Amino acid sequence: MKLSRTGGGSVKRNMKQIITEFLKTEPYFISAMSNISAVIMDQVSDLNWAGFYQVRDGQLVVGPFQGKPACIHIARGMGVCGTCLDRDETIVVPDVHKFPGHIACDSASNSEIVIPIHRDGEVAAVLDIDSPVLDRFSEDDRVVLEGVVEAMEKMLEW
Ligand code: SME
Repeated sequence: MKLSRTGGGSVKRNMKQIITEFLKTEPYFISAMSNISAVIMDQVSDLNWAGFYQVRDGQLVVGPFQGKPACIHIARGMGVCGTCLDRDETIVVPDVHKFPGHIACDSASNSEIVIPIHRDGEVAAVLDIDSPVLDRFSEDDRVVLEGVVEAMEKMLEW
């Protein structure tokens, strides 16, 4: 079962449940992020990339992910991920071709969502998800994915 564009109650519960179980079993951030990116890729329909960038020395560096090889470093304020880091807020981009400065790691991407992950009140990483479908991420999807990040913020060991 996949998280549809409108989302579904059982899928929402499953997604958070599955991810919470992984976090309980092993909260170390590299292990958890590896399986969480795999769960998202497996459970959410129409994706071509799902993964994490971590903040290191003030810029983003790629972390565990599923999808094609990605750009390794992204400066604060650059692209959708660097803008998310700078603004410290979720960014939903219905059409990446209309987002000034969008960084195209995979030319198949048409829409994107990036969510900040906090540690001690600071953005420590971002969750980045790309889709080949335009306007893929609904308000409902945003809520579900922010719930996943909330569980990570509570449970991750860095
Ligand atoms: N599109 C992102 C770059 C990361 S890749 O999508 C994996 C951006 O504009 O920041």
